[in-house]
Amino acid sequence: MTTLIKNGRIITATDDYIADILIKGETVHTIGKDLAVQVDQLIDATGMLVFPGGIDPHVHLEMPFMGTFSSDSYETGTRAALYGGTTTVIDFILQKQGNSLRAAFKEWSNRAKGNATGDYSFHMAVTDFNDSTKGEIKEMIDEGITSFKTFMAYKGALMIDDRQMIGLMEEVNKQGGMVTVHATNGDMIDYLVQKHRDEAKLSPLYHYLSQPEVTEAEASERFADMTNYTGCPSYIVHMTCEGALNAVRNATRRNQKVFVETCIQYLLLDASLYQQDFEGAKWVMSPPLREKKDQVTLWAGINQGLVQVVGTDHCPFKWEQKLMGKDDFSKIPNGHPAIEHRMELLFSEGVEKRKISLNKYVEVTSTNAAKIFGMFPKKGTIAVDGDADIVIFDPTSRHSISVNTHHMNTDYSAYEGWEVTGKVKMVLLRGKLVIDENKCLVEKGYGQYVKRKKVSAII
Ligand code: URP
Ligand code: ZN
Ligand code: ZN
Repeated sequence: MTTLIKNGRIITATDDYIADILIKGETVHTIGKDLAVQVDQLIDATGMLVFPGGIDPHVHLEMPFMGTFSSDSYETGTRAALYGGTTTVIDFILQKQGNSLRAAFKEWSNRAKGNATGDYSFHMAVTDFNDSTKGEIKEMIDEGITSFKTFMAYKGALMIDDRQMIGLMEEVNKQGGMVTVHATNGDMIDYLVQKHRDEAKLSPLYHYLSQPEVTEAEASERFADMTNYTGCPSYIVHMTCEGALNAVRNATRRNQKVFVETCIQYLLLDASLYQQDFEGAKWVMSPPLREKKDQVTLWAGINQGLVQVVGTDHCPFKWEQKLMGKDDFSKIPNGHPAIEHRMELLFSEGVEKRKISLNKYVEVTSTNAAKIFGMFPKKGTIAVDGDADIVIFDPTSRHSISVNTHHMNTDYSAYEGWEVTGKVKMVLLRGKLVIDENKCLVEKGYGQYVKRKKVSAII
């Protein structure tokens, strides 16, 4: 199969030019001006922006969590991602405490294989680091899982202590991987949650008040200190606030590099949403939404190069699941649906409103994640011999986000009524047109596992 995309404005992390793209099979064959070739499929991209397929390195599909499962399967979640221009996601495998990494990898692979609509890869969340887990780190890296997630929070469930953390960092560093972290102080949060429950303060607002900024700032600094000591490549997921970013900023003063991801919700939404009775449960996530001043810090952090990635932490639940916590905020499943709207929201709120450049947009939605997590240049750019993962984007089309039109498996939208400028018009994944004007043209099973290379501590 050959495809020619004509006359699009091609944007990569570094380039901005009008040209044609010839695709043969799954990869880009030629990029040039006025290519005159006979092809099976011709796409006129005049007036359109042409981006590399988005990469969302932080999603939770069918994840067992807080007594239920996140509501998007590999099929529905990766399909919704495609609708929104995200062609590859990295999901989190959770090791069960007492069990092996190998067993968890098998369980997650069985769920994903044959079901994913878009491409996917895995991080491994290590929830129980011991001599036996240590022996499996190299094996996971050989399987293409080169990043190891840790939780400094969710005490009694997913959290590991600093002793385990330092041991994991030493081993991962030795084997050429990276340690990533949910950096909040689990003991402090556990104390505050209990205190609020004892005082019968049980509404979603107290979820927010149980995780103040200091819990994230402290843990981010501690994590940076431990990675500085061990030399392990490191990445902080879903950063939300000024205090945490300043911990990373301070680490740069001793010449340390800590990669930082924020998520679309922390750039656009704020904690005032928790002021409404149970409705606030829609945005109960960890860490919680923060203040306007934190949004300012995160946008600045992107432009200062301190924040390299904008993901979603997509962890959707239906309203019925959120109601598990109607009498107690600590039982509300944590997470919100966003996988479908990251690219359009960031374009509209970031590029359109002149907070970030077009090149920066591509960097933080695709290229940096590909580089950091060992997928570049196969993914994350538009280049000869790279996968033809391409988004054709209409920068002027206006539309609004709604549960009535989204494709995620949730019965509410966390962005209901948001007006956005810019729309994903077509998406190609490995050379195949998978989204065409609001229609998905592939079935579940088209998505492939992306075996990642060793991580890069420099990008
Ligand atoms: O609220 C969230 N973030 N849910 C998913 C699990 C996590 O902490 O990333
Ligand atoms: Zn987390
Ligand atoms: Zn997460």
